[in-house]
Amino acid sequence: MTGYADSAVANSKTILDLQAMKLDKHKISCLTAYDASFAKLFSRAGVDVLLVGDSLGMVVQGKESTLPVSLQDVVYHTQLVARGNEGSFIVADLPFMTSATPIDAANSAAQLIQQGGAQMVKLEGAKLDAIEFMVQQGIPVCGHLGLLPQSINQLGKYRVQGKTDEAASKILDDAVAVEKAGAQLLILECIPAALAKTICETLTIPVIGIGAGVDCDGQVLVAYDMLGLNFGKQAKFTKNFMNQADSIYDAVACFVNEVKQLKFPNNAQSYH
Ligand code: KIV
Repeated sequence: MTGYADSAVANSKTILDLQAMKLDKHKISCLTAYDASFAKLFSRAGVDVLLVGDSLGMVVQGKESTLPVSLQDVVYHTQLVARGNEGSFIVADLPFMTSATPIDAANSAAQLIQQGGAQMVKLEGAKLDAIEFMVQQGIPVCGHLGLLPQSINQLGKYRVQGKTDEAASKILDDAVAVEKAGAQLLILECIPAALAKTICETLTIPVIGIGAGVDCDGQVLVAYDMLGLNFGKQAKFTKNFMNQADSIYDAVACFVNEVKQLKFPNNAQSYH
């Protein structure tokens, strides 16, 4: 089929595998990936989900935030990841303002899937109309709640969300609504571990955390952070797995193992 990405979707994990992992209490490992070589290495090391995150704006493009990342940037990096992937499930981000209306969201998602080779798209915030519309069109959707990096100019700084009772209830209500709207996966970023635990127990869809405690159904990290390629202040929820590894492969395999064994994140790497 012309224009269709060069991906091995037929041999890749599917959303059914992720749902079964939640039911069987097998933790899901997820790393961000932006190119073919890292995608190949990550999938060979056992990473279940590759997220082509708009964090590429910071770690690959050297920008200050995710805001300048374009849809074409994410399509391009998703193509690279799909080409290197050897069996992981690929989720690609809808960048800033590409899901402002349901039609925008669906058209943008179509490019990530048709041209990029993504198996699912992720959007920030409880944009229920956009989620419902995409799901009606057959587009698999991952929600993203808690700290929303695309809202950095509203937030003022990157910090833990859901600390007051009111803010925690809002995130829980949004999570329930996102699942009801048809999302099949949810990412929770930088929220107290106890709130994340409640959300994971309330929802039937798998919930993957970053800075959300060990009780999530899985863990995601920005790959550059866990490989020590972080030149700023390290957030408390990340860990440099290169400190205890002889190779990138070993570091990634160690991350996968620590996620599966509930050793990462530990108490000190979580918010309370
Ligand atoms: O863009 C990204 O890397 C993300 C993760 C932080 C979850 O959305």
